[in-house]
Amino acid sequence: MNEPLLCVQLESAREHERKAISREIHDELGQLLTGLAFEISWLHRKLPAENRELVERIKGMKALVDAGIKGVQKISAGLRPRHLDDLGMRAALDWEASQFANRTGIRCTQAIDISDSDLPPDYAAEIFRIFQEALTNVARHSLSTDVAISLKHTRGALELEIRDNGRGISQHEIDSPCAFGLLGMRERAEMLGGKLRISGNHGTGTTVTVTIPLEEEEIRQHAYPDSR
Ligand SMILES: Nc1ncnc2c1ncn2[C@@H]1O[C@H](COP(=O)(O)OP(=O)(O)OP(=O)(O)O)[C@@H](O)[C@H]1O
Ligand SMILES: [Mg+2]
Repeated sequence: MNEPLLCVQLESAREHERKAISREIHDELGQLLTGLAFEISWLHRKLPAENRELVERIKGMKALVDAGIKGVQKISAGLRPRHLDDLGMRAALDWEASQFANRTGIRCTQAIDISDSDLPPDYAAEIFRIFQEALTNVARHSLSTDVAISLKHTRGALELEIRDNGRGISQHEIDSPCAFGLLGMRERAEMLGGKLRISGNHGTGTTVTVTIPLEEEEIRQHAYPDSR
């Protein structure tokens, strides 16, 4: 192989790796810290206001976690979602949604209409990550009371939809080059040959839709890309 071509390929492999690491940090730690921030807010609400010292400490903790959330947007862990490995896709989505509802108080309705055998394992991990990031965004940004989740297998494609009834993401936010969470979701969908759509309506909510082709042929091409 000629040298420049080899260099290009190495660089592209490195670039791929950097992206993957940055996504993993973002997803693992970012979501954990968001959970912690909700727990601290809960404690804060329960504390008697006259206990000023404790209230100040809790505020300090919240500020540290918020700083951690910002810092984590740039660092890495590299683990696959444990519940997914232990439980399978359906149960992992279920578990994640019920944890989310308990923690945030946002009502969650789910229509999950697939079986684990519908999905190659690599697909499940990526879809699960997209799902986690979309829910984390609902918790952090949406100001919603309800979120509807659906996952179905229709016309040779898998479709995941997360719809909230909050403030609605703006086009400006969708197009921002700093929206690394949205970017990561999009890259994951595209890695599987699929697409991510985000739409927001001011005051009525945000919908994230991921469509992944699941035809036999598509799966074969992803698993064995040189077989074209
Ligand atoms: N469900 C939602 N409702 C309203 N606004 C949203 C929603 N999801 C995302 N946004 C807006 O889009 C922006 C970009 O989202 P993105 O996930 O990329 O970044 P983030 O959540 O702020 O930070 P992070 O990089 O940790 O994910 C958010 O900052 C928020 O303003
Ligand atoms: Mg986000």
